[in-house]
Amino acid sequence: MTEEPEREWWRDAAFYQIYVRSFQDSDGDGVGDLQGIRSRLPYLKQLGVDALWLTPFYPSPQADHGYDVADYTDVDPQFGTLEDFDALLADAHELGIRVTIDIVPNHTSDQHEWFRNAITDPEHPDRKRYMFRPGVNGGPPNEWTSAFGGPAWTLDERTGEYYLHFFTPEQPDLDWHEQSVQESFEEILRFWLDRGVDGFRIDVAHALFKDQSLPPMVEPVPRPPFGDWLNALMQPELHPLYRRWRQVADEYPGHRMYVGEIVIENQEKIATYVEPDQLHLSFNFGLLFEQWDAERMRSTIDRTLTALGAVGAPSTWVFENHDVTRLSTRYGGGGLGRRRARAAALLLFGLPGTSFTYQGQELGLEEVDVPQEARQDPIFFRTNGARAGRDGCRVPIPWTSEPPTFGFTTGEPWLPMPQDWSAVGVEAQDGEPTSMLELYRSAIRRRPRHEGFAWRESPQGTMIFERGDLVCAVNFDATELALPDGEPVLASEPGITTTIPANTAAWVRKGTT
Ligand code: GLC
Repeated sequence: MTEEPEREWWRDAAFYQIYVRSFQDSDGDGVGDLQGIRSRLPYLKQLGVDALWLTPFYPSPQADHGYDVADYTDVDPQFGTLEDFDALLADAHELGIRVTIDIVPNHTSDQHEWFRNAITDPEHPDRKRYMFRPGVNGGPPNEWTSAFGGPAWTLDERTGEYYLHFFTPEQPDLDWHEQSVQESFEEILRFWLDRGVDGFRIDVAHALFKDQSLPPMVEPVPRPPFGDWLNALMQPELHPLYRRWRQVADEYPGHRMYVGEIVIENQEKIATYVEPDQLHLSFNFGLLFEQWDAERMRSTIDRTLTALGAVGAPSTWVFENHDVTRLSTRYGGGGLGRRRARAAALLLFGLPGTSFTYQGQELGLEEVDVPQEARQDPIFFRTNGARAGRDGCRVPIPWTSEPPTFGFTTGEPWLPMPQDWSAVGVEAQDGEPTSMLELYRSAIRRRPRHEGFAWRESPQGTMIFERGDLVCAVNFDATELALPDGEPVLASEPGITTTIPANTAAWVRKGTT
């Protein structure tokens, strides 16, 4: 790698999330794969990102599209081989791009050897790795619900016991109080660290240990996006576990790191997981679950910076991932949604800390209305269609302007791609000065990195802050906002010279006074 070894690169990195199934297919089976990613590294280099987060590519029956892992130390044949992974890692490193991978420690696949042992032989030591409990009054042990709809317990008919699964029944939860589980995962971390990965994104990082007394936990209606109400999770045992994981990462050179998916709103609580001897980062859902509203976003930013700053951790900033509706669509869709999404890009890369961009966000892709018969997400099926699920943000990426598959695959894409995507593909946006792609490239390249952060007074409905001599101004819904004094650096729309209209943003470099 080209950077000096001392730098804690993760403090101000631009991360790019690759949803492996949907990025680039190399073998015509309609599913993205590791060789496909490898072939697109020059694109990622040109975009200017520092690090990748790859979603799970492990052997898996794909009941939850890879978040049901059957073997943590191999690659699913539909995504490639371990050699493909090594080649991808080597090429990325050659280009100065770091690679982090998803680790899924809360649950395994029901096809994992441990769970198969647990089911076929109730006396097998592997049964202790899971949360099997006796039923109560002819039903499950308690009323806990799955995040994907329905009960969180499934009957093991052979023994009459139930096993816990916070997601689908094909994703049995591990019992992290069991020593063998802790030991196995330490080996798994080392397996990938030895291969050279730069870090891990920890799936549902707050959930691993459950309160053994199985306390009541009644799901609010409607189910809120944040999980603060899940009082049986976030157990104190997590802290020593993450301290141990930190020690493991610190044994390796080059600042290997962890980013935890901690889906709660309470930033003070999140801060307890990113103290200097635990996780490096927490994936921040604050802006992602927020409306396009200056005051609300400002208060989210304030709360985050204050709470995480108190423990010396940088914040992450995120507007999209593979679990939520695309940003342009959330912000109203069409021209309005797009305008706001462009302004949000200048906010994303203007803020201090680490950013995450989800594949296709840099193209301004809208949520796709996937036809009912093509839907794949277990959320859709387990809620009988009451929740649409996440397929709409997981549709493969358009590279060229050529329907029907826009360069993603020579076969049939695993989710159907809209046929009117010619103008949003990479090919059409590349070199087009007013495209979303070029805005992302410019913002990533010109973003402030080490500079401090300070709010400036600004009218209601707007937000202005300084990063050193760079001023970032966003007009959410004020009639207009005067462009701050200085030299214009970047604007979310063309023609912003004296005022910043609603739903737009600009960066300005302060003149010397
Ligand atoms: C996380 C992942 C999501 C997955 C779930 C269960 O929330 O982001 O995609 O379905 O965990 O592993």
